[in-house]
This record gives sequence, C-alpha cells and structure tokens, in this order.
Amino acid sequence: MILVLIVVDEEVFINMCLHYLASLAPQVRCVDLLELYDVKVSVKETGRRIVHGVTARLTKPGIYIVMGPNGAGKSSLANAVMGHEAYRVEGRILLDGQDITGLSTAERALRGLTLASQNPEEIEGVRVSEVFARIIKRFRGVESTAEALGLARELLETLGLPASMLNREYMVGMSGGERKKLELARVLAQKPKVALLDEPDSGVDVESLRLVANAVGRLVDEGSIVVLITHQPRLLHYLEPSEVYVMYNGRVVAVGGYELVERIENEGYGWAAQLARSAGAP
Ligand SMILES: Nc1ncnc2c1ncn2[C@@H]1O[C@H](COP(=O)(O)OP(=O)(O)OP(=O)(O)O)[C@@H](O)[C@H]1O
Ligand SMILES: [Mg+2]
Repeated sequence: MILVLIVVDEEVFINMCLHYLASLAPQVRCVDLLELYDVKVSVKETGRRIVHGVTARLTKPGIYIVMGPNGAGKSSLANAVMGHEAYRVEGRILLDGQDITGLSTAERALRGLTLASQNPEEIEGVRVSEVFARIIKRFRGVESTAEALGLARELLETLGLPASMLNREYMVGMSGGERKKLELARVLAQKPKVALLDEPDSGVDVESLRLVANAVGRLVDEGSIVVLITHQPRLLHYLEPSEVYVMYNGRVVAVGGYELVERIENEGYGWAAQLARSAGAP
C-alpha cells in the first residue's frame, strides 16, 4: 500500500509518515515554538538602537533564562517580541512556525504569546475578576463565569494571593510584590504557548520566591515555553533551566547552562563585556 502511495502521491505518503511518527511520540513538536532571526530593536521616537541582532531558537517547552546587567536590553527585546508600539523591529520573529513580526500585540496574544511586564500597568475601573474571567473564557474555553472565577481563585491562591483580590481594581494600589504575583497568575490563566516573564521575582519576598518558582514550573508542566528574565540566581535554585542566555549591550554574548549563572554570581559581568566588545560593541 505504501509503494502504491509513493507512485500516486509522494506528498500524501510523507504526510502519512509524519502522522505515524507523531502518533508514536505525541509530545514531540514538529516546529520550533519561538524563533528570532537577527532581531534588532530601536526606540521609534529617537531612533536609538538598543538590541543589535539577536538570533535564538527555542524549540521545546522549558525554561530559558535571560540574564544581563541593567540596561542590557532585556526588557526592550521582550517588549518588542510582544509587539510594543514604542519599538521598531528589524529581523524576523516566528511563533510556532508563523511569522508574527508585523502583528499587533493583541494578535500575538491570541496566537499564544504573552508577556508578564517588568512594571505591570494599572487598569482603573476594571476589576481583577473581570480580567481573569475574560482571559479564562477566551484562552481556556471555559463557558461559565462561576467556573472561570473558581479557577481564578485557585490561581491566585497558587501565588499566595487572597481571593478577595478579585474584587479590587486591576493592579490599582497594589504593592510591588502583589503586582508581580498577580501578573504571573494572569499569565497562568492564559495558558500561553510562550510566556515572556520580565523579572517576575523582583520585589518579591524570600518566602514568596518559592511560589513564583512553582508558578513558573506549572507553566512548563502545562506545555509552555518560559523565557525568564531575572537578576536573581536564587530563583534558579528552585528551577531547572533548559538554557541560559547572557545579554550585554544589546547582544547575546553567551548561551549555555547553569554554569553561566554561577559565573555571573562569582565574577559579575566583566567577562560578558569583553565578549560584547569582541562582537563589535563599542
Ligand atoms: N521606550 C524607550 N525610550 C527610551 N529609551 C529606552 C526605551 N526603552 C528602553 N530604553 C533604553 O534602552 C536601554 C535598555 O533598557 P531595558 O529596559 O531594555 O534594559 P534591561 O536589560 O531590561 O535592564 P534592567 O535589568 O534594568 O531591567 C536603557 O538604556 C533604556 O533607558
Ligand atoms: Mg528590564
């Protein structure tokens, strides 16, 4: 039968084989989830270039750490990947094999990309419950509001936040740590393909750090790729990173494993500065 198919239609045959292989190993994905090709980011208003050509292919669910000193361009890159309108992007960004470089932030979100911002914004006049109910209905296919709010409560609890927070205005008047935790709970609610987490641990107390790590682990368990920007090696004691990227002066200067985190902990970023200079940075 296979021989007949080769003669009749080679493409049908190849598709059959791919389906067969996929059924043997359903957890193996056929396309890369997030790909950046020579991505350069500039501030639209001033034209200043901040990120000077980053290429990265994140292929499997897991935790991809991004470290680098203040001002290295980590947040700008994450914001640009999410489609923030303050930035001009050159190069190509692919999500699940589809080019998303020209899409709006909302379109990127609908395709499974999300960003937990370094500085989550307040939305006055909108309750946390409304935000979570909408997200859970849209992204998890839950129809009943009661069921959506039940899940919202559970997600808040995961991050040590009280259910009463559902009645508050979104982010309004919240402490730094509360904002970070609520933002992470919102990302969990969205069940994203790719979650960009910009310092979800900053301003979070020592005991809550474990809750943040648990939430990151849960994202991965649910199949997400997590890109985690952090300054705190301490958070990484609770997690198993797939890869570590070190940025300096708008460039990725090193890619490796946990040894890079230890090097930063022990030596700081002097070595990264040297690598950046040899890659053409001033
Ligand atoms: N919208 C903007 N307008 C002007 N300058 C910007 C803008 N966005 C980023 N920058 C500048 O680009 C540089 C990189 O900033 P970015 O926030 O990406 O750094 P970072 O690596 O996230 O640093 P940190 O670890 O402090 O969060 C900084 O000098 C910052 O002031
Ligand atoms: Mg930042």
